[in-house]
Amino acid sequence: MARVFSGIQPTGDVHLGNLLGALVHWVRAQHEHESVYCVVDLHALTVPHDAEELRRSTSRLARLLVAVGLDPDVCTLFVQSHVHEHAEGAWLMECTASYGEMKRMVQFKEKSEKADFVSTALFTYPALQAADILLYDTDEVPVGEDQRQHVELARDVALRFNHHYGDTFVVPRAVVPPAGARVMDLQQPTSKMSKSADAAAGTILVLDDPAAITRKVKRAVTDTDGEVRYDVAAKPGVSNLLSILAACTGRTPEEAARDYTQYGPLKADTAEAVVELLRPIQQRYHELEDDPDAMVEILAKGAAKAQAVSSSVLDRAKRNIGLLAR
Ligand code: AMP
Ligand code: TRP
Repeated sequence: MARVFSGIQPTGDVHLGNLLGALVHWVRAQHEHESVYCVVDLHALTVPHDAEELRRSTSRLARLLVAVGLDPDVCTLFVQSHVHEHAEGAWLMECTASYGEMKRMVQFKEKSEKADFVSTALFTYPALQAADILLYDTDEVPVGEDQRQHVELARDVALRFNHHYGDTFVVPRAVVPPAGARVMDLQQPTSKMSKSADAAAGTILVLDDPAAITRKVKRAVTDTDGEVRYDVAAKPGVSNLLSILAACTGRTPEEAARDYTQYGPLKADTAEAVVELLRPIQQRYHELEDDPDAMVEILAKGAAKAQAVSSSVLDRAKRNIGLLAR
């Protein structure tokens, strides 16, 4: 069975785009592949942050991942900093990746241009990501398009390491979901729904209450021609509502469009479908919030499972690169 690894940063709130674009695929994949999912808190340290807020976001995200349906008995779900092999593996990656390769990373250029403080780790971030991936003998890495370059780097590092030091790492590949799975901002339907603060009215958070969801969907930008039709170029707002409704109810957007002639009922049904999709997730989330010991235990087991794999791969890499056994 192919092994799948993916990571998600504990920054900002999880929104409907993350859920429909990534997390529902993770939930499905856990039954089809041997899946490892990681809350990458070490990656979140690369930018200025508040210590208490990071701790809270990490536990919130872990809880949410369980609430959306990642089953800790089926997949491996853990927090990156609980498994020290990641930080140690990152050093071997930094020694194998070249400075030139790192300098070509588009995400570093974008993030560092905007930042007042640029940590060294923001630059070497892809080496840590490569360690995440390679330490699990990963075959496939499901990620958004923006992460493809980082996965390619992990692949190049694996090939170089294997070439110099003998067969050590499985060579991974990125699996990018089709663009159709993209959820757009309700206020600016030509941009992706995102977690940036200025998108609040256009972003549905997975933990939004039903009244907030209904209000955001009812205020969603449409257009003035009044016709319900799935046509992303000509009617981005209406098409986004149709694809959200379709994703929530297991149809295609074209099928969903046939049931409507007016925007009012389309919005009402879309709001209701989102509320119903999120209801059981929110309920499970709040149950886990009321039982903090359960989450501690889930994450401790996840870390132990993750470490069983990563420690043996790391040992193999340390031996092959020339470090003396203890
Ligand atoms: P981000 O929060 O942007 O780092 O994204 C985390 C994951 O959610 C990635 O796999 C993205 O591809 C996915 N994702 C983020 N925003 C959207 C969106 N608006 N529609 C679909 N998928 C998204
Ligand atoms: N860098 C990824 C992001 O920002 C998160 C991540 C860290 C990751 N390690 C990973 C994704 C390993 C896939 C595999 O989205």
